[in-house]
Parts: sequence; C-alpha cells; structure tokens
Amino acid sequence: MIFKKVNALKGEVIIPGDKSISHRAIMLGSLAEGTTEISNFLQGADCLSTIACFQQMGVSIENKKNMVTIKGNGLHGLKKPSGLLDVGNSGTTTRLMSGILAAQNFSCTVNGDASIQKRPMNRIITPLSQMGAEIKSIKENGCAPLEITGKPLHSIHYDSPVASAQVKSSILLAGLYADGVTSVTEPYISRNHTELMFRYFGVDTTTEGTTASVKPATKLIGQKVMVPGDISSAAYFIAAGLIVPNTELVIKNVGINPTRDGILRVCEAMGATITYENKQDLSGEPTADLVVRTSNLHGTTIGGSIIPTLIDEIPIIAILACFAEGTTIIKDAQELKVKESNRIDVMVENLSKMGADITATDDGMIINGGKALHGATIDSKLDHRIAMSFAIAGLCAEGETKIEGAECVNISFPNFYQYLDTLIQNGK
Ligand code: S3P
Repeated sequence: MIFKKVNALKGEVIIPGDKSISHRAIMLGSLAEGTTEISNFLQGADCLSTIACFQQMGVSIENKKNMVTIKGNGLHGLKKPSGLLDVGNSGTTTRLMSGILAAQNFSCTVNGDASIQKRPMNRIITPLSQMGAEIKSIKENGCAPLEITGKPLHSIHYDSPVASAQVKSSILLAGLYADGVTSVTEPYISRNHTELMFRYFGVDTTTEGTTASVKPATKLIGQKVMVPGDISSAAYFIAAGLIVPNTELVIKNVGINPTRDGILRVCEAMGATITYENKQDLSGEPTADLVVRTSNLHGTTIGGSIIPTLIDEIPIIAILACFAEGTTIIKDAQELKVKESNRIDVMVENLSKMGADITATDDGMIINGGKALHGATIDSKLDHRIAMSFAIAGLCAEGETKIEGAECVNISFPNFYQYLDTLIQNGK
C-alpha cells in the first residue's frame, strides 16, 4: 500500500463499531438467557475470532448484514469445545474469555497467532489462580497456548499492578461465577465497557473511584445492543483532519465514553478545534459526531491517568506530534511494549526513517515536532494500529510512503483504505 502527499481531504465518515464493545456483547450475549441482537457489530478479524470461539462452545450466533443474533446458552450452558479455541490476533478475546473459561465444568486449550504467543498472560493467570482456577501456560513462558481447567471460584479483591481493562474484565467475568463479591482496584481507571454492559444485562456491578466490583450472577438477560463507532478507529480520521491542509471532516457515530476519550482531550490540548454534534446515548454508551478541521498544533506532555484512556491511540498521537510545533513528551506508557507489537520501538524506528526527531524512553517517547517528514518503507510488524498511523503520516510526507503488511488493518478496521481513499478523492 502506497501513500502520497495530498492537498486536502473532504467528506463524512461513519465509523464502524467499537472493537471492545463488540467482543463484550458476544460474550455477555452467549452467557445470557434469551436472544441478544447486536447492531453495528465490528466485522474485524478480532471480533470474528470471539464469535468463532463461542460458536465452538455450542452457542448459536448468526452474523448477517451487520446484525449479530445470539441465542444465549445461559451462565452454565457453554459446552466443551471439540478442538482448541483459536483467538487469532486478539488479546481481548484471550484475556476476557479466560475469565469465563476459568469457571466452566470442562478444560480446554486457548491459542492464537505468533503475536498472541508473545503477549503476557501471567497478568490474568495470577488473579484467576487466586480465585481457584487452574491455568497453565503450556510452554511455561507466561504466554499462550493456555490450558484452562474450570473450577468452582472464590471471590477475591485484586489490586492490579496495571491499569488494564482486559485484566479487570477477566477477573470481573470470573466474578460472575464466584462465591461472593469480586473487586478489582487499578492504579488508574481503564475503559469501563464491561461494567456498563454488565449493568445493561442485569448484573449487579458497582464502581467507586478506581475499584470495580461485581456480585455473583444468577442470570443475565439477553438485550438489544447498539454498538457505537470505535473512537480508536475514528482517531486516524481525527488526526488526518487536523494535519492535512484545507480539510474539514465530519466523523459520525463516535463513542466518547470518558474512559476512552483521551485522544480528544490531547488534541484539544495541542490546539485542535473539534466540535461535537448530535450527542446521544447508545445502549448506555455516549456517542457524538465530530467535526474536525485543519489546525495549527503545538506539543504537549501526556502521562498518568490519561494514558489508559488513549492507550491504543498513542501511535497516531506520535504522528500528530511530528506535525506540532515544539516538543511532545509521552510518559507512563510502558504498556505499549506489550501490545500487538512493541509500539514504542516500532514507532521510533519507522518515524526516524521518515526523518522525524523522535527518541524512545523507557516508558514512552519524546518528539520534537515541526521537521518535515519524507516517505519511507514502513514495516507495520503486522500491527493494525501501526499500519493505519503511517497511512495518515504518508498523506503529509514528501514522496512515497510504502506500508508493508498493510492488510493487517482487517483486525480492527476492514475497509480502512477504502474509507481514506473516498476522502482523498473528494478532496481533489
Ligand atoms: C482492551 C483493552 C486495552 C486495549 C485493547 C482492548 C479491551 O488493553 O489496548 O486494544 O477491550 O479491554 P489492556 O487492557 O491490555 O490495556
């Protein structure tokens, strides 16, 4: 995939469904009684992996024309899968589903692609084992493949060393089956989609500060879920709208949950003008249409409690920082090292190739903006967020930017390049 400098972008984008919420809707719908209908479900490879895993455990899930219909098996109705559960590239599927599997009356094996087999799983193995689960990293390296033997679970209070919605959600899902109230305290609040959707499906959940608690459930009730657009996907168009000259974009149906909206707060701190229209509530999640225009940006410092609210957007924020006057410092973001790729190293390596002034630090990066970028060959490391970030950088760089492994965008945004091309054609 090759990108060249453009003089303008123009048009409207309707953002596809949120990845985190789509995963959770499949899981809760599968454990619920009755029918769950999910509209605007994200048809990305990660969410399709979640569907396939729950189908393998005997759940009837029909996926037709952007509407997913689940006939739930109830909390105790999952069946032992005949083979291994293949999570593909999806960390969310692995960690959240493990919380559910920890409580079933069967054992099974969970595995995924080469990237999944390098991602840390002790962060869920430790708390789930404290609850009484039996989980083995088959290669004894703290990664998948995992062999999970379901057990009767005890409730725990867990002080999580990381602000991670996947860790929190894994424990809370196991907590549905525990013998008392299960709670998780995080250093900073991470995305709260599990807690919101628990309430929506009738589970007794509370949140106080950075602690989320769940009572054991007797049943979940099937629901109609309308999935808001994914702010993590919108982020690429927000960035493009700000840094491509002569641009105005309307980005429709964006989830603006305050535990996910850090990108908007950072853009505003950098001097962007973004207007919100048509604010709504979709199945308990706030959404809005965003209008973004070319803006003069300046550097900023990002760290602490805002980091979990924009963790997946840091690659595109690094691109924005290259087009901002002055220095941007990103700190407290060590988690970037254990995403689909080591996103600190991969951003620094590829942006350096394009001529950016960027330095890796132990917990983030420092970018001195304002230096013109030139095209380069970008190794995406098959990380969807890296590929999409450099597609946007390529629109503002001299010469050609070639992205290797570009098809990996299918993980979270299947038609990303077509969406972008429409805006490029409209801008001509
Ligand atoms: C997710 C949580 C985040 C995020 C991931 C999706 C979720 O991961 O990076 O893309 O759906 O819960 P961590 O919990 O590891 O921070």
